[in-house]
Amino acid sequence: MNILILGSGGREHALAWAVKQNPKCDRLIVAPGNAGIADIAWCAALDILDGAAVVAFAEEHAIDFVIVGPEAPLAAGVADDLRAAGFTTFGPSKDAAQLETSKGFTKEICDAAGAPTAAWARFTEVEPAKAYLQDKGAPIVVKADGLAAGKGVVVAMTLDEAEAAVDDMLGGAFGEAGAEVVIEEFMRGEEASFFVLCDGEHALPFGTAQDHKRVGEGDTGPNTGGMGAYSPAPVLTDAVADRAMEEIIKPTLAEMAKRGMPYQGVLYAGFMIEEGAPRLVEYNVRFGDPECQVLMMRLGAQALDLMQAAAEGRLADARVNWADDHAMTVVLAAEGYPGTYEKGSVIHGLDDLPETSTQMVFHAGTGTQDGKTVATGGRVLNATARGASLKEARDAAYSLVDAVDWPQGFHRRDIGWRALESD
Ligand code: AMP
Ligand code: GLY
Repeated sequence: MNILILGSGGREHALAWAVKQNPKCDRLIVAPGNAGIADIAWCAALDILDGAAVVAFAEEHAIDFVIVGPEAPLAAGVADDLRAAGFTTFGPSKDAAQLETSKGFTKEICDAAGAPTAAWARFTEVEPAKAYLQDKGAPIVVKADGLAAGKGVVVAMTLDEAEAAVDDMLGGAFGEAGAEVVIEEFMRGEEASFFVLCDGEHALPFGTAQDHKRVGEGDTGPNTGGMGAYSPAPVLTDAVADRAMEEIIKPTLAEMAKRGMPYQGVLYAGFMIEEGAPRLVEYNVRFGDPECQVLMMRLGAQALDLMQAAAEGRLADARVNWADDHAMTVVLAAEGYPGTYEKGSVIHGLDDLPETSTQMVFHAGTGTQDGKTVATGGRVLNATARGASLKEARDAAYSLVDAVDWPQGFHRRDIGWRALESD
């Protein structure tokens, strides 16, 4: 099979790494890719938001299967264009991608499906939004409706903060994405991520993970795209996962099918779990990054067969072959991230690292300059490892971190602390 993966982050390196282990994979192309991906696949320069260009590329290279990594091409309808041109494609349609691109849409679906989530209301005008805030009181959560690069959510501990967020968002701080705000009840509990493969009709649980969104140790400081993750998530026990499937995931998929927008691809559900009861925080329509890295480390080659089964509507008979193992990934980021940071610093030590089925440094934001690997983004490397216990995975991941020589980078030393403490 000739396989095309769209994207350029650590998520796509991990996907490429897993896919490449499957003997079905003859040729692997990643567009646009990065310096680490270039070691295992051909990286092609391609505008992945341009559906016509992606289709033309897939035709030219006789692609049999396309995996769409990030949300932006899904939101742009690239999966629809590929399918219309006859390509088997993993990833939801533009309509179904509204589960990530519109928070108001997701809330409507939850209500129609009877899926437990925070009580909510949506507003386009400041005055009624503030009246609602006054009525409900703090803590309360204010969200820009659309995609805002992870920055459109304010968990307000005071009414002042909540009102300022409404002023900001409806005042245009997020452009179109904030033309409407969703105001939500503040939910207490422990957060975890649940990944489900969907083929439009059937759903297959594909793993659990927890990430660390804050930049600083002890989960402090500003939000990031994620500074590290581990799988499985202890709080998402089999009993909680079964409940989430019956109460949240299956009703959501049934409602989507009923509306003529069946969901195909991976559905990434963020839950708040309190006393064994999951409630939906949000959906994403792609793998989490860096959560994907720990899932792929645990799944290996079978990930390709399962994603293909999802794209071809064959999930009813599919099974995941789980090992009783744990994985962890630690993000190495450029000093200054998530604020401003320098690009172009040279990373040493990468050539001497182990690259095995249990230890791998995935590249997120790297490029090649004069034969050297340089940092090109905020999150740059993902040191990832698998072990019989979370502690074993942690020790192996940090041994990779410590072997990287990159003075302009930083990382958190405490990834997994909550799960390790409760061991
Ligand atoms: P979202 O982009 O919707 O996932 O929100 C980002 C983060 O804000 C989540 O991961 C939660 O930590 C927090 N959050 C969002 N909605 C709520 C809520 N209703 N109650 C408590 N925390 C929330
Ligand atoms: N790590 C969070 C995300 O991918 O959205």
